[in-house]
Formats: sequence, C-alpha cells, structure tokens
Amino acid sequence: MIHIPLEKASPVPFIRQIYDGIRSQILSGSLRAGSRLPSSRELAEQLGVSRNVVMESYEMLYSEGFTSTRHGSGTFVAQGASRQAANAAHGIKAEKVSMGYESPQGIINFKPGTPDLHEFPLRAWLQAVKVAYLHPVEDAMGYGQPEGRRELRQAIRDYVVGQRGVACHPDQIIITAGTTQAIGIACHLLLGDRRDVVLEDPITRDIQLIVQGQGGVIHPVTADHNGLVVDELPQGIQPAFIYVTPSHQFPLGGTLPIQRRIALLEYAERTDTYLIEDDYDSEFRFDGPPLSSLHGLAPERVVYIGTFSKTLSPALRTGYLILPPDLISQGRGRKWHCDLHNETPTQLALAHFIAQGGYLRHLARMKRLYARKRTVLEQALGKIFSDRVKILGSATGLHLAARFAGIEFTAELLADLERAGVRAYPAEAHAIRPDRLKDILIIGYGNLSEGQIERGIGLLCSVLERWASDGAKTE
Ligand SMILES: Cc1ncc(COP(=O)(O)O)c(C=O)c1O
Repeated sequence: MIHIPLEKASPVPFIRQIYDGIRSQILSGSLRAGSRLPSSRELAEQLGVSRNVVMESYEMLYSEGFTSTRHGSGTFVAQGASRQAANAAHGIKAEKVSMGYESPQGIINFKPGTPDLHEFPLRAWLQAVKVAYLHPVEDAMGYGQPEGRRELRQAIRDYVVGQRGVACHPDQIIITAGTTQAIGIACHLLLGDRRDVVLEDPITRDIQLIVQGQGGVIHPVTADHNGLVVDELPQGIQPAFIYVTPSHQFPLGGTLPIQRRIALLEYAERTDTYLIEDDYDSEFRFDGPPLSSLHGLAPERVVYIGTFSKTLSPALRTGYLILPPDLISQGRGRKWHCDLHNETPTQLALAHFIAQGGYLRHLARMKRLYARKRTVLEQALGKIFSDRVKILGSATGLHLAARFAGIEFTAELLADLERAGVRAYPAEAHAIRPDRLKDILIIGYGNLSEGQIERGIGLLCSVLERWASDGAKTE
C-alpha cells in the first residue's frame, strides 16, 4: 500500500495530489524502480476517490516517464526515474529539494528551525514599519545600494560586536535574503579555481544543494555530539572553504569546543582557506553563558553569516553576511547581481526596532519561552522513553537531536507516525554519507505549544511501541 495524504479542503485537484504524491516517492527512491503500483481500482478504493481520477494521475506519470506498463500485469516504476539514483554518482542523496515542512492541519509538526510564529512582536513591528514608511519618501522608496541600508548595517554591527564578539565595520556587512542567499553569495565568491568544499556531515540539505549547484565538490567530515571532528579534516587538498555551524551544529546540536576551534583555524591557515560560520540560532543558548563566535578568533579568515529567521520570522527573509575586507567589493557585486538589494522598508523597520531596544527585549523574552519548551520536551522524552532515548544536543536553539535505541526511522515508520498525527524529521535526511543516523530524530519545538510537545511525544511513543511489538511478533 502506498501512502498519499489527500487533502479534501485543498484547492489542488485530487488528480494532481495523487500525481504529486507518487511522483515525489519515485523521485526520493522510496518507490523503487520496478516496483508495482496498486491497480487504479485498488488505489481509488483506498483513497475514496473515483477510479477515473486515479487513472488520470497514472496517465500523467506515464506520459512523463515515471512509470511503465506491462500489458495485463499493471503499472511499474520506471528505471532511472529516481533522483537518488541520479545523484548517487555525485555522492549526494537528494531525495527532496524541499524538506516537506508544510504541515497539514491537525498534525503536530516537530519541524526544526521555525520560531514561535504566534509570538512575533507584531505591535512593535507595525510601529517600526510605520516609522520606515514615514522616512523621506524618495530615500526609502527609490533604488538602494546592494549592501543594504546603513541604518541597519550599523544596528547589526552594534549587535554583533556586543552580543557575538564579532568585531567588524558596518561596511563589511551585506544585508541578504536570509542565510540561504548569504551562503549562495559566499559560495560564488569563494569557489574559484579551487572546487573542494569541506562540509560537516550531517549538515542541512539546503547547503549541500547550494554548494553542488555552484559546482563545489563536497568533502564530508563527521560531526559528532561536539560538532566537526577536526581530526578528520581532509589532507592533501586546499579547500575553497570550510562551512561550519560551531555554536549549534545543524542538525545534531553540538557546540564546537575551543580546542577544536583552534585546530580548525590552524588547518584553515595551513591550507590558506576561508571558514564560513553559519550562526543561525545561537541567540538561544540555555545552558551556560553565550558562546563567542569563531569570527572573533580570526576575523580575516571567517565569513560570518547571521539571520533574523529564527529570532523574528523566516518570512522577513532578512539575514546578513560579514565579509573580510578583501571580499567586500565582490560581495556587493554579487548581491547586486542576485536582486539589486533587499527591500528597503523592512530594512528600515528592522534598524529602528533594533536601535530602540525592541530586538534585545524580544530575544530575552523568547529565550525564556524556548527554555521552558525545551524543558517540557526533555521531561516528556525522559518520562516516556527513559533510557531508550539519548539526547545529543539541546543546549542551544529551537531543536534537539534524540537517538532512539534500536529504532530505524524508515519511510514506512515516518508515514505511520504521520497517520497517527505527528510529523517527525530523521537526521538521516541531512546525511551526506548515508546509513549512520537512522536512529536519530531532529525534534523542533520552537513553534509548538507545551501541550502539543507533550501530546506529540506521547503519540511518537505509542507508534514506536506498536512497531516494536509488531516486530517482536514477526520474529
Ligand atoms: C543551518 C541553517 N542555517 C540557516 C538557516 C536559516 O536560513 P534562512 O536565514 O535563509 O531562513 C537554516 C534553516 O533552517 C539552517 O538550518
């Protein structure tokens, strides 16, 4: 049986939903080449739709080459239609471009990386937007400079100097459409004659795709519960750059200890390479004092990236790059090439919000809120799973990683969890080298209430127990 979640209230027609559901399972490799699709009659019955609807979806899949038919024996997944197979040659397992974070109603979605959207400081933000629009009209409403508004760059500079130990001048800052664009720009600047790129493994799928998309050759280096394992850094190559998440490794959650930071910098000096520091959510550090940035140790070698996606909202699409002086001019050129500049009123509103103290107040409030949610999550995991679960990294941020003894989070198990009303995210989806992280879930709690967190962990437990007892019965 294949699982296709049909949404009756969706404006997307059933034909398209069924086509999309099967197509993405073929692309991801969870429906393998040669496997037989259910007959149109069976699937129509399973989904409660008319047989014509399923036949039309099958027709679309067939006409695009996703399936083949054998006369009298049914519809089969065609050879070579899986992105997994196509990407294996490139050393990457890209089953999806998007992580499928969109959540159907009623599902408790442990999506990592989303802040509490209900707590966006709307009133203060609207006030700041009003101030932005009242700025002299030609200045705010005309074309701007690629590096972004000076007001915002100054406010960010004051913030990173004070809070993150990043000593820089506002001219080193480029305002970007989030970290995602910042990484794209940094890749463009640093991938010249050198094509080798060192990435933590696992690391967010998006970064793997951006690096590959720009022609980088990925050299994975294991990340453990403390972040990058520096002893494994590749010898005999000169990387274009090394990309790291030292304050809060994504997704495993570790914090890079100072000994590893120093060894990493020594390696960067030896190979004369740059480091990209993705500091995406270190504002929310719950255990111990805030950590300083890697940038503070070697400002001339580190390209620092920050974002407002986790502290305010990903919808603002606002982040920033802090470049060593020799890269500033090229960096501005690349940003201009991408989209001229970030949208001005949001930049002015944000500058006002930070300068008036609203941002720091908001951070302090959110940190208390997330600390409570994290405690609820850790207690629920501990109470329900006891020593069957090991939490790998939870000192910082909006998610934690948890290893479940003896469980393998297969596509079938994840689909079963979803049917039970909970969406969970396997660490394996971010692995560069497969098959080491199948027992780890990444559990995001930023955008869930305390009640949802407790209910979600309860549901997770009941499904895992059912699987364990079904497994025991079939042994
Ligand atoms: C490691 C990492 N860095 C940064 C981001 C944020 O990206 P953006 O600032 O483009 O929203 C994410 C998204 O979840 C992430 O996982």
